[in-house]
Amino acid sequence: EKGGYEHFMLKEIFEQPKSILDTMRGRLLVNEGIIKMAGIWDHLERINKAERIVIIACGTSWHAGLIGEYLIEEFARIPVEVEYASEFRYRNPIIGPKDVVIAISQSGETADTMAAIKLAKEKGAFVYGICNVVDSSIARVTDAGSYTHAGPEIGVASTKAFTAQLTILSLIALKLGKHNGNLGNAEFMSLIAELDAIPTKVEEVLQSSHEVAKNIAKQYVDATNFLYLGRGYNFPSALEGALKLKEISYIHAEGYPAAEMKHGPIALIDENMPIVIIAPKQGHYDKIVSNVQEIKARKGQVIAVVNKGDVQVASMADHVIEMPETSECFSPIVAAIPLQLLSYYIAVYRGANVDQPRNLAKSVTVE
Ligand code: M6R
Repeated sequence: EKGGYEHFMLKEIFEQPKSILDTMRGRLLVNEGIIKMAGIWDHLERINKAERIVIIACGTSWHAGLIGEYLIEEFARIPVEVEYASEFRYRNPIIGPKDVVIAISQSGETADTMAAIKLAKEKGAFVYGICNVVDSSIARVTDAGSYTHAGPEIGVASTKAFTAQLTILSLIALKLGKHNGNLGNAEFMSLIAELDAIPTKVEEVLQSSHEVAKNIAKQYVDATNFLYLGRGYNFPSALEGALKLKEISYIHAEGYPAAEMKHGPIALIDENMPIVIIAPKQGHYDKIVSNVQEIKARKGQVIAVVNKGDVQVASMADHVIEMPETSECFSPIVAAIPLQLLSYYIAVYRGANVDQPRNLAKSVTVE
């Protein structure tokens, strides 16, 4: 059932071109120039008139939510806040009938997310669910929603569910922007064409980065710490990369917005500190170049995830992983792949139980 792969996690990493396509199927109709999503369409008025959208989730789904914030604010121009469900539920949040809550959960059973939804509903908010497991508790309790069609995710470390969540959030942001007039038709058309190309680009990066990530992993099995840095849309990618490494390899890792480095984490950098830096061409590239210079001046080991053909960052980095270029807003989907592979192989070389890491459960049904 692992389809010839050694672990479910690797199988699920390699399924992503298909799971992303499945999530888009019937929704992204490029030739007709439309995005079809019944859940959004039926409540378009309510969602587009929201004073605020609050995204609630935990773990990897929360990271997807952070990227969702960038997407929705950029294209639909609706203010978005992203909260950990566990914090939201216990802090007497200001939430009411004019707010729309988007709850994101792969399993649809996470206790904190469920409790946060109940609270939001009690206060009159409209709650939209993004779940992977069909008919799960969260899918049933929400007012409307869209399923990610990633298929069953068995590995405790979320991989294909994450990229499917990003796909849904992209579709939602573009659809809202198109209908509320914040996204012009030409831009909408070019963005949906770009989104449509993502499964192919994910396939490309799987092929091109697999061996590269494996080789880099071999050299870092004994690392005790890792930093992950990214800016803009790829700041949450850095958080997700670090979480993936922590949970399966048990190596301490932190993700930061690259610019925050000088406000503290830079003190940690020496020749023993590996730093994964996500540096696509589109998205504050020049700023990232300066960050890499600052790291190299302190002898940090740089593992750079860059676009194919990159020279500037690549020439300074100790290791380079290439990925195809895409719009900045979709780059976290492509960048997720090499980061997943890197964590996977580091964990495998350390002999860890990749699919069932210690102390973790696939769905966290207790708070
Ligand atoms: O099923 P959910 O998406 O609600 O789960 C949320 C988190 O427990 C989950 O993403 C967790 O962080 C994963 N193990 C991350 O890989």
